[in-house]
Amino acid sequence: MKELSDEFLISVMEDVIEDLHGHVHRVSNLAVDLGRGIHLGDDDLDRLALAGVLHDVGKIHMDPGILGKPGPLDEAERDLMERHPELGFAMTRNRLDPKIAEAILYHHERFDGRGYPFGLAGDAIPILSRIVLVADAFDAMTSKRAYQPALPVDFAVHEIRKHAGTQFDPQVVDIFLELAAVDALPLEKTA
Ligand SMILES: [Fe+2]
Repeated sequence: MKELSDEFLISVMEDVIEDLHGHVHRVSNLAVDLGRGIHLGDDDLDRLALAGVLHDVGKIHMDPGILGKPGPLDEAERDLMERHPELGFAMTRNRLDPKIAEAILYHHERFDGRGYPFGLAGDAIPILSRIVLVADAFDAMTSKRAYQPALPVDFAVHEIRKHAGTQFDPQVVDIFLELAAVDALPLEKTA
């Protein structure tokens, strides 16, 4: 029954949010690699795999016009968009392992406490969320979006290094840079 629910959520999300096609699986793969790099146990790696796929599931509730908007969002649109972690948590909390639902709830919290929805900082943010944030940021930069072309890998790696300790957990960034150094980061296939 649990597998059915997971598959259902994933397939609905991929259908509804076309822009995410492929993205969620790359985020999932990178998140697991990062988790392995900081020696998380197998249970947490399994949770990361699913949290990586489902982190943006709350966007199902968003207006497609906002999701696909080819320019910056206005304040009201951004406020709506920033509700997606809590909506995703509400959708998954009774269906999945609570740590997966929490990873989704906190995946836009920043290490310096300036993220959303709660402004948690440092170790108060679950490690699974700190990992998903790095994986999501890298793939968001290096894949084509409605509002931007894909950016070069070197630029994305530089940005993530630059924001270690502010946006990102430095411990997670260290592992990310190790993967970057050996060209082990997952990338969108270009046609
Ligand atoms: Fe998100």
